[in-house]
Amino acid sequence: MRHAEFNHPALVMVYDAAFGWSRDDDFFLSVVGETPAARVLDLGCGTGRLALAMAATGHAVTGVDPARASLDAARAKPGADAVTWIEGTSSVLPAAAFDVAVMTSHVAQFFVTDEEWRPVLADLHRALVPGSRLTFDTRDPRARGWERWNPADSRREIPLPDGRTVTSVTEVNSVADGVVSFTISYAFSDGEHLRSAADLRFRTEEEVRSSLAGAGFAVEHIYGGWNREPIGAPDGEFLVIART
Ligand SMILES: C[S@@+](CC[C@H](N)C(=O)[O-])C[C@H]1O[C@@H](n2cnc3c(N)ncnc32)[C@H](O)[C@@H]1O
Repeated sequence: MRHAEFNHPALVMVYDAAFGWSRDDDFFLSVVGETPAARVLDLGCGTGRLALAMAATGHAVTGVDPARASLDAARAKPGADAVTWIEGTSSVLPAAAFDVAVMTSHVAQFFVTDEEWRPVLADLHRALVPGSRLTFDTRDPRARGWERWNPADSRREIPLPDGRTVTSVTEVNSVADGVVSFTISYAFSDGEHLRSAADLRFRTEEEVRSSLAGAGFAVEHIYGGWNREPIGAPDGEFLVIART
C-alpha cells in the first residue's frame, strides 16, 4: 500500500509511537508564535501533534489532511475539540482565511511533480491573507539523506501502546531526477507484516525558491538546521519561511 503510515490504522499507531515531539516541532511552534493568536492552517496535519500544540498556545488552528485514519487518531486526542479538522487537500481551502500556514515533517516532499506542487502553493497563497507567512521543511538533496535509508541504518524497534513491538526497516528502491522511491516493512511482534511504499521529491534550493516566487511568495528565510543555522548545516534541511 502507498503511504500506509497515514491510511492504515495500525501504521498510524506506529507513526505516533515513533514520532513524538521533537526540535522540528519547537522550530515550527516558535515561527508560528511570532504571530500571536494567529489563524493557523496545518496542511498535511497527520495525527495532529503540532496542530494540537499550536491550539494549546492560543492559536485558532485548522488541520487539513486527506488521510482519514490519521485524522481519526488526531480527533481522539486530548484537546482535539479546539482544532478544526478537515479531510481533504489544499483544494478545499477557503480564501484569505489564515495568518500563517505550516507544512511539517516534510509534507512538501509528498508533492512529487511540479504539476502537483504548483497548485498546492497557489492554493496556499490564496488561503493566506496578504502579508502573512508560510513555513515548511524540505530536505536538502545535497545531504543525500536517503543513503541512510537502508536496512542496516534504518532498522528501528518501536514499542506500541497495544503491548506489541514493531520492527521497521526502510529500503530505497530508486533515486532518479530528484525523486526517491522507497519501501518500509513493518514486522509486528505478533506476526503481522505490513509494507508501505512512497516517493519523495528532493527539491534543490533553486527549485524551492523559484516555485515559491512563481506562486507569488517572497522568501524571507531559508535555514539549514533546526536551530536556524544557515543552509548547509548538518541537519540537511531547508527550513523555509515565505511571505505572501
Ligand atoms: C510525514 S506526515 C506529516 C504529518 C504531520 N504534519 C506531522 O508533523 O506529523 C505527511 C502527511 O502528509 C499528508 N498528505 C499526503 N498527501 C497530501 C496532500 N495531497 N495534501 C495534504 N496532505 C497530504 C499525509 O496524509 C500525512 O499525514
